[in-house]
This record gives sequence, C-alpha cells and structure tokens, in this order.
Amino acid sequence: METSNKHPSKVRLYFRLSMFCFLGLWLLSTKFAPDGIERNTTAQFLGRLHPLFLHIPIALLILVPILEFLGARNKRTHLTQTAAFVLGLATLATCITAIDGWLLAWSGGYSGTTVTRHLLAGTILTGLCIASYFLRKFTTGLLYKSFLSLCLLTLVWTSDLGGALTHGDTFLTEYMPGSLRSILRIPDAPKKKLATITAANTHTYYAQKIAPLFEAKCVSCHGPKKEKGKLRLDSYAAIMQGGENGAILTPWVVAKSELYRRITLPADDDDAMPGGGKPPLRAEEIKLIETWIAAGASAIQPVD
Ligand code: HEC
Repeated sequence: METSNKHPSKVRLYFRLSMFCFLGLWLLSTKFAPDGIERNTTAQFLGRLHPLFLHIPIALLILVPILEFLGARNKRTHLTQTAAFVLGLATLATCITAIDGWLLAWSGGYSGTTVTRHLLAGTILTGLCIASYFLRKFTTGLLYKSFLSLCLLTLVWTSDLGGALTHGDTFLTEYMPGSLRSILRIPDAPKKKLATITAANTHTYYAQKIAPLFEAKCVSCHGPKKEKGKLRLDSYAAIMQGGENGAILTPWVVAKSELYRRITLPADDDDAMPGGGKPPLRAEEIKLIETWIAAGASAIQPVD
C-alpha cells in the first residue's frame, strides 16, 4: 500500500509500460504468427538466443517464492524487499525472452501446434508476471500469492512445451515413475509407444531402418518444430496421416506413393525431397524405403 501511495504515477507508468510490452507480444504472435517461412538471417541470429535467454527468467521466477517464503517466515524484511526487486527483473526477463521466442518462431520457419501452444503459453506467462508484479505493489496477500502460483504453473507448462520442441513430445515423461504418472494422469509409456510406434519398439523394420532415416533427413522440416506441407514424419501414425494433400503412402504400391515419388525426383525438381537444397537421399536409403513400402509399410513387421 505504502509504495502505491507514495509513487502512484510511477506505478501507473510501470503498468503502462508492461501492458505495452504484453500487447505488443500478443499482437506480434497473432498478426505475425509463425507460418513456416524462413526470414532474414539477423532476425534468426537474434531469435536463436532464445534457448540461451530462457534460463534467466526461469531461475529468477523460481527465486521469487523462495524469497517471499523465507522473508515472511523469519520477518526478514530485506528478503521481502529483494523478492519485489527479483520479481521486477523476472518480469522484464520474461518479456524479453517471450518476444525473442516469437522472433525465433517467426523468422526461423517454425510452424505447427506445439510451436503455437508454446508461444501462447509464453504470452500468458508474460501477462501473469506483469499482473503479479503490479499486484505486489498493493498487496502480498492471497490474491498476489495466487497469481504467483499461476505464474509458476504456467512456467512449467511453457517449459514442458519448449522441451517437447527441442527433445520430442515425451522427453519429460518417458521415464516418469508409474505412481507420478497416474497422479498427473499421463498415459502409460508402453501403451503410448504401441499406439504411435516410436523408436522404442526396436525390433521392427520401421523402428530400425525407416524411423532413423526420417529422423536424420526429414524431421527437421517435418517434425514438432516445423510441419512443412502440414506433414510430420516423426511417428508412424503421423506418416500414415499424410500431409496437406492427404496420404503420402500407398502400402504395397511403391509407384503410387507420393513419398517415394518425391525422394526419387531429380534434385533440381521443385517437388524433390528432402527440400531446401539438401542433398538427395543415397541409393541405398531410397532402397530401404522402397522395400518397406513394397512390403506393406508396416509398423510391426520384424526387421528379421
Ligand atoms: C528443408 C526442409 C525439408 C526437408 C528436410 C524435407 N522436406 Fe518434405 N517438404 C518440405 C516443404 C517446404 C514441403 C511443402 C511444399 C511441397 O509440397 O513441396 C514438403 C512437402 C513434402 C511432402 C508432400 C506433403 C503433401 O501432403 O503435400 C512429402 C511427401 C515430403 N515433403 C517428404 C519428405 C521426406 C520423405 C523428407 C526426407 C527424406 C523430406 N520431405 C524432407 C520441406 C522439406
């Protein structure tokens, strides 16, 4: 209360500045949403600092409740004052990191639901930080504590989505103990693997020969970060689902499979894959895919 009575104009200024940042971010992420088109290299260079920057707001935000708790418990007012200062820094760092994240997504040719959700989560987190920072100038009571808790929950959500972008959807939960899994209502690992047939099912032709090949040559453009042609090639289910023009595979019939046509076109053809001027697949790699499709493009056929 005291602070707000003493510096009402300053509070209003902070509030306006923060709202300006937040609305800017909101505008950028809706009007200039990541659309899968790569843009100029300076923007990409700055954007790629995002994975480096993001550790700063994470560390600062986690520090805030620790300082608040210790300060309140032992009546150490210097800690409580530090909490306010750290929350201010954390808010600023979150704003910068979120805007830089948008820059990375927009300029780096990113697209797809995971990217969009991560951006949304980051925007909400920024808004919540600003709200908490502003609230704290008036109260450290329940309302402030609720907002701070929401901040931390959103931080976990945002980081989890960011982790899914860099390490794959199940990175965090793959080896999670069963009990924690059931508390958090996360589906069982083996069941999920069976449904999507990922690399865990190691004795199949798909897991041994096809998945690693796609991972190395295709997933950079057809995976969680980018879904070029609305196509993902990072799971069996996604491959079978196809892209913007529908199915890309006709099991048993190599000649009718769009995927096969794409990888066997001359490298200078616009439709040739891998796109973006990447070197074409080697003859033996093409042969692996051909054999797979001709044998029914199965997820469970053993590698023999
Ligand atoms: C450098 C980025 C890049 C890489 C790497 C890449 N692609 Fe693509 N792919 C694209 C783009 C862009 C499109 C959409 C434009 C088009 O249809 O050509 C596309 C579209 C496709 C389509 C058509 C989807 C549809 O429904 O129209 C297939 C099939 C495909 N890619 C297969 C592959 C395979 C297989 C690989 C790996 C060997 C691969 N791509 C690697 C960029 C890439």
